[in-house]
Amino acid sequence: MIVALLNQKGGVGKTTLALHLAGELARRGRRVTLIDADPQGSALDWSQQRSREGLPRAFGVVGLARDTLHREAPELALNADMIVIDGPPRVAGLMRSALLAADLVLIPVQPSPLDGWASAEMLSLLTEARIYRPQLAARFVLNRCAARTVIARETAETLADHDPPVLSSTIGQRVVFADAAQTGRLASEIAGDSPAAREITALLVEISRLGIGRIAS
Ligand SMILES: Nc1ncnc2c1ncn2[C@@H]1O[C@H](COP(=O)(O)OP(=O)(O)OP(=O)(O)O)[C@@H](O)[C@H]1O
Ligand SMILES: [Mg+2]
Repeated sequence: MIVALLNQKGGVGKTTLALHLAGELARRGRRVTLIDADPQGSALDWSQQRSREGLPRAFGVVGLARDTLHREAPELALNADMIVIDGPPRVAGLMRSALLAADLVLIPVQPSPLDGWASAEMLSLLTEARIYRPQLAARFVLNRCAARTVIARETAETLADHDPPVLSSTIGQRVVFADAAQTGRLASEIAGDSPAAREITALLVEISRLGIGRIAS
């Protein structure tokens, strides 16, 4: 299965969630490849940082920030249980290509009512992609949620009425995710039994239960 983390808004957690979903599945012994489709190369930077720190490779990271991504991804998928695509902010061509490659699009959003959670352009690209790929599934993922705030709940209720629907697993605002990004680590490596690590596990379980494509739990 090919999962793409996409949102044209910057800094919503595409890279954080892509790395952690890939890491969680790899930890379970699955073959995972992360495609870094962002010209900024943040996932590749993370992987390089990891190697500098002398840490073992967690999963393969390949840079593929090209509009031809959808033509390359199926072949990579032959040798993997899951492909995770870390999408770029803004670039519409790359977004379109990632949408054509994916079985499931996860749209990370920050649960603030002041923050339009996905751009109209992103949603219209999704509609457009579904003309070619009617099976393409999409879900919002609430990221950086403050602990049980009213705002987060309200946003979840608002999102539940929408297409795409919102996943019930949410990811909190947690320092360990920021540390992980900087040190080439995963939250579960910094703090094994932390709320952050448990949230990622729950997210992966929920995704595998969607029954999209072939994914091991
Ligand atoms: N749940 C979280 N808790 C704490 N910090 C987070 C969380 N999610 C993301 N961050 C931090 O927020 C910043 C932006 O996250 P990230 O890089 O994952 O977003 P992005 O959508 O990939 O951004 P871009 O659009 O620039 O690629 C990073 O510094 C990251 O460590
Ligand atoms: Mg990113």
